[in-house]
Amino acid sequence: MGSIVRSGPQMCKKMTHDIPKNKDIVILELGAGDGAITDYILHRMSNKSLLIVFEINSEMVETLNRKYSDQKERLIIINDGAQKLETHLEKLNISQVDMIISAIPFIALPEEIMHAVLKVSKKVLKIKGIFIQMHYTLQLKHIYKTLFGNISTSFVALNIPPGYVFKCIKEE
Ligand SMILES: C[S@@+](CC[C@H](N)C(=O)[O-])C[C@H]1O[C@@H](n2cnc3c(N)ncnc32)[C@H](O)[C@@H]1O
Repeated sequence: MGSIVRSGPQMCKKMTHDIPKNKDIVILELGAGDGAITDYILHRMSNKSLLIVFEINSEMVETLNRKYSDQKERLIIINDGAQKLETHLEKLNISQVDMIISAIPFIALPEEIMHAVLKVSKKVLKIKGIFIQMHYTLQLKHIYKTLFGNISTSFVALNIPPGYVFKCIKEE
């Protein structure tokens, strides 16, 4: 399911740069793989923040469960597609989140999956909440611009392959 490319340190730092260190928030990570970015999120977020990870590949989820067995108080790992995240949040009694960090390779997936994930992501984000997405090309930038309006792009040259990080803020 999707690309197996693992983000390098510079990409992980850029993806997690906006996480406040001293504020307790709820963060979603979409498409965690074996946890390259998850490591950085857990390291940067406050002790009482909550990270909820969605990963569709059950082998990756087994790896994540093993790797983070000591993080149960601040990390919930869900083995399901991010397009179904609202149902899972409802079960957790969470209606709104502060930040969403996604490495789902939308370019390699059916368009309807991308639209479903982006639509529900915007829906559950708080006003002024941040949606971060990585891509290896600018091909889909217009999708984020149309959905969020407020978007900035960073180029991460020191990654294999080099990539882009889109930062979108929910204004309304
Ligand atoms: C390119 S890997 C990124 C892994 C890691 N976050 C990193 O940056 O190194 C993308 C991951 O997204 C997962 N994925 C693909 N479609 C998904 C979906 N609809 N919901 C959740 N995860 C998905 C894949 O299984 C894969 O592990």
